[in-house]
Amino acid sequence: MRKGILTIAAVGLLTTGGLTACGDDSGDKAASAKTPKIGVILPDSKSSARWETADRRFLEEAFKAAGVQYDIQNAQNDKTAFQTIADQMITGGVTALMIVNLDSGTGKAVLDKAKSQGVATIDYDRLTLGGSAQYYVSFDNETVGKLQGEGLAKCLTEKGAKNPVVAYLNGSPTDNNATLFKAGYDSVLKPKFDAKEYVKGPEDAVPAWDNTQAATIFEQQLTKANGKIDGVLAANDGLGNAAISILKKNKLNGKVPVTGQDASTEGLQNILAGDQCMTVYKAVREEAKAASDLAIALAKGEKKDTGQTVKDGDRDVPSVLLTPKAIYKESVKDVIADGYVTKEEVCTAAYTKFCAEAGIS
Ligand code: BGC
Repeated sequence: MRKGILTIAAVGLLTTGGLTACGDDSGDKAASAKTPKIGVILPDSKSSARWETADRRFLEEAFKAAGVQYDIQNAQNDKTAFQTIADQMITGGVTALMIVNLDSGTGKAVLDKAKSQGVATIDYDRLTLGGSAQYYVSFDNETVGKLQGEGLAKCLTEKGAKNPVVAYLNGSPTDNNATLFKAGYDSVLKPKFDAKEYVKGPEDAVPAWDNTQAATIFEQQLTKANGKIDGVLAANDGLGNAAISILKKNKLNGKVPVTGQDASTEGLQNILAGDQCMTVYKAVREEAKAASDLAIALAKGEKKDTGQTVKDGDRDVPSVLLTPKAIYKESVKDVIADGYVTKEEVCTAAYTKFCAEAGIS
């Protein structure tokens, strides 16, 4: 079965390659003849270190291994730049466009335009609501949130907290993932609020996941709560670090558990130092590889069955959803062993002692 598909694809490639050489470039068959060239638009480099340190690296790794041409650019949180980059990529002849949208509106405009020009499209990491991407590749984001909620509960228990006040620092209101993360942590924490086991403290969404704004927002939350916040559900490591910076100013770091996500170097260091309760590790290498495989298949005119779909309104979007993993002090070493960050990056001078304690050798 598999062999059959491969053979047909190879024949298709040869035939259409011939057609293109003759200058006949019209019709569906010609579309499937294209040599893969993949365009990727990353969202920014500040809301999380992952985009530049992990996604760019692992996407390059996957494209190079497959021997395809690629162009990876970063919109630096600028929606106009996002659209300009997309236009340039389409004009530049990409066969597939992979986007991490800044919001569903601009994401949709870009996807629709690409589609109208015969360019294959993939929503990478963030689903574009009402969009038209042919595939969605991400992690199970509700599970990400669930792991955060469970992690916070575990750390609060370990601290012996009684009726703890829990503050929320949610992700960007324009990021569908932030909605899914919150659904996940609410599924764990809301029953505890309802049972009066925990007390719901201040809750804010952080625009564009802006880490600097997050610190200001958390400082206001702490003031509003008269300094009584016992746990912080921060939706990623950047927001967690913002909260930790304010807790440090108030000599509360290490006493108040804070969650995170992305297993960033900074997040892992905060965990080792005891200032952060946990993070969620998402193996971006696998995400990049899955997206790259799909983009290449689409460029060859092949349709892959991902065996899974996600609902976007009435639309069933074929999806690949990978499994996230909770990381605590004792499992920081697993992230290093997986090649996501290096021991040298994490165990800098100030952290060598903590690294030794956590069994990182
Ligand atoms: C991603 C997270 C990231 C956040 C901020 C989300 O869509 O899934 O990994 O931390 O955006 O960039």
